[in-house]
Amino acid sequence: MASSSSLLFASLCIHTCFLLAWSRPATFLQDFRITWADTHIKQIQGGTAIQLILDQSSGCGFASKSQYLFGKVSMKIKLIPGDSAGTVTAFYMNSDTDTVRDELDFEFLGNRSGQPYTVQTNVYAHGKGDREQRVNLWFDPAADFHTYSILWNHYHVVFSVDEVPIRVYKNNEARGLPYPKFQPMGIYSTLWEADDWATRGGLEKIDWSKAPFYAYYKDFDIEGCPVPGPAGCPSSSANWWEKPAYQALDADQARRYRWVRLNHLIYDYCTDRSRYPVPPPECSEGI
Ligand SMILES: *[C@@H]1O[C@H](CO)[C@@H](O)[C@H](O)[C@H]1NC(C)=O
Repeated sequence: MASSSSLLFASLCIHTCFLLAWSRPATFLQDFRITWADTHIKQIQGGTAIQLILDQSSGCGFASKSQYLFGKVSMKIKLIPGDSAGTVTAFYMNSDTDTVRDELDFEFLGNRSGQPYTVQTNVYAHGKGDREQRVNLWFDPAADFHTYSILWNHYHVVFSVDEVPIRVYKNNEARGLPYPKFQPMGIYSTLWEADDWATRGGLEKIDWSKAPFYAYYKDFDIEGCPVPGPAGCPSSSANWWEKPAYQALDADQARRYRWVRLNHLIYDYCTDRSRYPVPPPECSEGI
């Protein structure tokens, strides 16, 4: 029989565990730290937004202070305008565990003025990546802020742009396929020069006469279980991102996902026969 103190604890936990598992920081420094070149990350708007700078002396990067095991992370990002060829802005989650690394990547590949930005996504599970897909965006991501999110639960990983799913990686452990599930991941972002591969396969070089290059981030929204986590957080179905509504795309999301795949997908490792004469198992029909 439940004692009144355990009932009191339970009700406190419902309240505080919810607060701990949900955070929209007022400022960047509340949840993040600079990992590379603090001279090249400027806090603006009272620390609620940041400006990332890339010039010939350096790029820059930041990371979350905590690691998370499942949840949803969203960022509002405004990418480098104009001629951004050769630059890469990345937003990703990473377990930081080298040989058994799990990683979920958004990489924004710059382009010459007027040419479309490309969003590359990749999924590493248990140390293996090489699962690139690319979509061209249906808007100019440098004209305004747009929301880029990663939902990660026991069922799938969903990459979304303005809540439109652009990629789904399902948990197919039952078929023996690897799924990132055992390691917490931190949230990272970097802005750097990668003109050896980023734009048209490295043909388009960065134009330093256009530097410095600026990208902007705001509304850092982490809803996840920090690890080590508060009681009540671990994997329980109490977390909203595990609930049935988030276990698969709903009809509307599925329709928008098909629209992206039909109209905006420009590269998929699953159909790259020169790389994979035999498609990787997660690419099979019905998976
Ligand atoms: C850049 O623009 C060219 C020409 O439209 C396009 O083929 C390419 O996919 C775009 N993106 C990158 C990253 O090269």
